[in-house]
Amino acid sequence: AVPVILDCDPGHDDALAILLAAANEAVDLLGITVVAGNQTLERTTLNARRICSVAGITGVPIAAGRDRPLRGELLVAAEVHGESGLDGPSFGEPTVPLDPRGALELTRDLLRANGKPVTIIATGPLTNLATLLLAYPELSVHIGRIVLMGGSTGRGNMAPLAEFNVLVDPEAADVVFRSGLPITMCGLDVTHQALATEQVCGRIAALGTPLARLCVQLLTFFAGTYRELWGFSAPPLHDPVAVAAVIDPSVIATVRAPVAVELTGTHTRGATVVDLDGRTGAPPNAEVAIGLDVDRFWDLVVAAIAASAVP
Ligand code: BDR
Ligand code: CA
Repeated sequence: AVPVILDCDPGHDDALAILLAAANEAVDLLGITVVAGNQTLERTTLNARRICSVAGITGVPIAAGRDRPLRGELLVAAEVHGESGLDGPSFGEPTVPLDPRGALELTRDLLRANGKPVTIIATGPLTNLATLLLAYPELSVHIGRIVLMGGSTGRGNMAPLAEFNVLVDPEAADVVFRSGLPITMCGLDVTHQALATEQVCGRIAALGTPLARLCVQLLTFFAGTYRELWGFSAPPLHDPVAVAAVIDPSVIATVRAPVAVELTGTHTRGATVVDLDGRTGAPPNAEVAIGLDVDRFWDLVVAAIAASAVP
């Protein structure tokens, strides 16, 4: 199994990413670190504990990280994920504890302790990861690769050309994309293909477990906001795509390309500038996902919900 640290900001799609990473045997989930993004750090951290509690994910440490981007104010996505960050179902008090260490210390300890290079899957703003790379550059050798949900080769979602995770903390994304580490970018090009259609929700509902019901409630809320804000007929389940790409690399098709993060554009701050035609002469620094095996993706997600033990 691939040793993985999942850095996230739950968030409806992050919640499903946690389930997939914890349930699939191809992943050895070492820890979950949480960052501010979809909601404040306090709320995203609570949400990570809520999801682990309802899914019986007990042995995985959860640590809270940065509560704001490297520069400037935090931008949250309450209009997409609700005031709690995980609106839809009602949750009881989480039973899974918070690790006393912060995300930076937990990640440091896990990287040092693990013999094999660790894959970091990032499904929120890249603040925690950039903080780690800046604070402990010598730990980079323990990072096998970074697989992130973020960016786009073209159109954005929270701004005309910027995707939310990059828009929230462009400076952090810039640190990550310039790190020299192997990066796989799963951006909107592929995550907008991962639509939780009525047929998909029907498959999940048919599992008949309390967790499956909760997932349907999450997807129903998410469908409503995506319909209202962007006119989507079904909501795109962005973050699990990055986890699926680690479980089975053939789920995505990629091209190697140079990716730069726009930091100063008048209208384009937070855009990922992907040089698909090699016009800049810059060396490629990422595998950029451009294709998704949609059926295989949903098979993995549905199987993970089915396999998750319910206490
Ligand atoms: C990304 O932004 C968040 O709202 C989602 O959780 C996902 O990580 C999509 O742009
Ligand atoms: Ca996310």
